[in-house]
Amino acid sequence: MKHRILFLGPPGAGKGTQAQRLCATHDMIHLSTGDLLRAEVAAGSKLGYEVEATMNRGELITDSLVFAIVESHLRSQCGYWLLDGFPRSLAQAQSLEVLLLQLGQPIEAVVLLDLDDSMVLRRLAARGRTDDSETVIRHRLEVYHEKASPLINYYRQQGLLSTVAAQGTAEETAARIEEVIR
Ligand code: AP5
Ligand code: MG
Repeated sequence: MKHRILFLGPPGAGKGTQAQRLCATHDMIHLSTGDLLRAEVAAGSKLGYEVEATMNRGELITDSLVFAIVESHLRSQCGYWLLDGFPRSLAQAQSLEVLLLQLGQPIEAVVLLDLDDSMVLRRLAARGRTDDSETVIRHRLEVYHEKASPLINYYRQQGLLSTVAAQGTAEETAARIEEVIR
């Protein structure tokens, strides 16, 4: 069983849902950059203040800022982790690679949760997070499609990428993920 995993995929693909399930039953910590950033916003920190408007527009936070958050968490954990929503750009992937080399913690699997835009819109409209208005969801999808392909190619070339269909029930998706991280 793999214990150092990345989840890639569009907004609403189920990255958070599946990461929580896996980390509850397997020995890994769940690091979601979206959740960590929302916690900063909720805490009213200086960082939260700086990132709130950008998140609500559905745009990406700067690579250096997000990487600093991920780095501090990865440096203070046991070595078994699941990163959800990070990296989101080639620059983030390259910074992560350097850090993981230093830590001696290579990525063991990259799981791409694949879901059509029409399904994304349906799922997220039903949720209602502050960045879940239709206009912002459409923009998050545009940002995803622009940034994701170089990232997907990067991990495919390294032989790490598995694509998992994310439609159907959460249980069905979980079973497909278990297959590729065995
Ligand atoms: P982030 O929080 O990562 O949001 P996201 O990628 O847009 O994805 P979501 O969290 O909306 O969806 P998910 O795939 O986790 O699906 P979920 O399980 O919730 O990022 C938010 C923002 O933070 C970004 O826009 C950016 O501003 C910033 N940010 C974060 N990371 C960054 C980074 N690395 N660099 C720069 N900026 C960054 O499921 C969605 C819904 O569907 C839920 O209601 C769930 O209950 C439901 N659902 C799940 N599975 C199923 C199923 N199988 N069937 C039916 N419903 C389902
Ligand atoms: Mg999420």
